[in-house]
Amino acid sequence: MRERILVIDDESNIVWLFREIFGDGFEVLGAQTAEEGIQTVRDQEVHLVMLDLRLPGMSGLQALERIKLQGYQGPVIIMTAYGEVKTAVQAMKSGAYDYITKPFDVEELKHVVQGALRYARLTVEVTRLRRELEDKFHLKNIITVSPKMIKMFSVIERVSTSDVCVLVQGESGTGKEIVAKAIHYASARKDKPFVPVNCAALPEHLLESELFGYEEGAFSGARRTKPGKFELAHGGTVFLDEVGELPLPMQPKILRALEENQIDRLGGTRRLPIDVRIVAATNKDLREEVRTGKFRQDLYFRLAVFPITIPPLRERKEDIPVLAKHFLKEFAGKRNTAPLTIEDDAMDVLVSYPWPGNVRELKNIMQQLSLLCNGPVVSKKDLPAFLWDPDWPSQARDLSAGPSRMKPGGSLEEFLECEPGLGLTQIRQRAWARIEKHLICHALDKFQGNRTLAAEYLKVSRRTLYTKLREYGIK
Ligand SMILES: Nc1ncnc2c1ncn2[C@@H]1O[C@H](COP(=O)(O)OP(=O)(O)OP(=O)(O)O)[C@@H](O)[C@H]1O
Ligand SMILES: [Mg+2]
Repeated sequence: MRERILVIDDESNIVWLFREIFGDGFEVLGAQTAEEGIQTVRDQEVHLVMLDLRLPGMSGLQALERIKLQGYQGPVIIMTAYGEVKTAVQAMKSGAYDYITKPFDVEELKHVVQGALRYARLTVEVTRLRRELEDKFHLKNIITVSPKMIKMFSVIERVSTSDVCVLVQGESGTGKEIVAKAIHYASARKDKPFVPVNCAALPEHLLESELFGYEEGAFSGARRTKPGKFELAHGGTVFLDEVGELPLPMQPKILRALEENQIDRLGGTRRLPIDVRIVAATNKDLREEVRTGKFRQDLYFRLAVFPITIPPLRERKEDIPVLAKHFLKEFAGKRNTAPLTIEDDAMDVLVSYPWPGNVRELKNIMQQLSLLCNGPVVSKKDLPAFLWDPDWPSQARDLSAGPSRMKPGGSLEEFLECEPGLGLTQIRQRAWARIEKHLICHALDKFQGNRTLAAEYLKVSRRTLYTKLREYGIK
């Protein structure tokens, strides 16, 4: 269908002019009175309204209001004579997209009309994408048959409509993030942004400017004013992921922001109001962190107004077959093939395995099977051996089919030979870095990029792991 431009103007030669200029690419509808225009907007799909300010019977401003009341969400451009610019500006305040003065400059008119239509197309696209996201994260798309989970979701559904802080707890890969998104998309804030912040991924000073924003010149490098995540999420939800990793000095700052609903940009002189809902997630036992002094109790109570815990997959084994089938279907859909089916003895293996990486690990294995399995049916021998072979050493759970991210370093003598200037101390530092980098890459490969499991395996905190990843430039 060609896009429709509705021209509401009592001068019929204006409609004629639009047909001359835009008639080839667009359908131009004319209305000589405001009433007629409003009627057209109600009855037909219109992509752009050109509205004359001076109409018999009803002012352009009233007409604009009535058009919006019909539910029309596209752009309205006001057409005005030179002396009426003030009213046009007023119309823009009431939601008009732009204005253009008569007599028209044809090039300017083309420019403004094309711009408005581009804007209208983008708006439609954004609405469509938003719907798609909503659908994707709707509670109904979280797959489960576990009574424990179903009970948890009925509670979540109720809590979604209020503004209380929710703390989502659960092991790595249990679905904390999709639950957080589902809470947002089930709430009245769903048309506003969902803004995730990974509290473990940034060093303290960057985290502060990321959350609260900064004013130009607040520190060297702050060349422009930048709003923080709390501001960007205005009206929506801030998702504080890995909140257990929040550095202690940051904790009172966040608490204050939440209690006062106001923030200070770094280097700012006035407090800015914020309107956000907080959903936080952690795979740590936050109460234990409070007990050992790593997490402030007051912030804990503030965040955990409504705590929920997602059970690990091994405690809801009935979910394993449904999730496995769901992921096989999803991956098959992406590749336009029929989904694989799983033989009973292979399914028994999947159900018995303890899934330390939870749903994410199951999803990864299903993805590998979709890519690598030869026939349409998955049998036990198609599954990676560590799933079913009790003798398989746990350290050898290396699922990555591809080569390791980094080959083991060359010989140590190479340091002396290639860079003769280096002394023992520098060689030790470099060798150390090479070993660390190698082991970190190995751990990441081993757990398919799952940083929580990699950190646990390396016996360092996630924060330390993130710092090292940055230091070594590992993606
Ligand atoms: N019940 C479920 N139904 C469908 N998909 C799920 C379900 N639970 C988890 N997933 C999928 O598993 C993956 C891991 O989920 P998610 O990222 O939400 O876990 P997480 O708990 O935040 O993990 P981490 O602690 O490592 O950050 C995602 O791809 C998610 O879409
Ligand atoms: Mg997560």
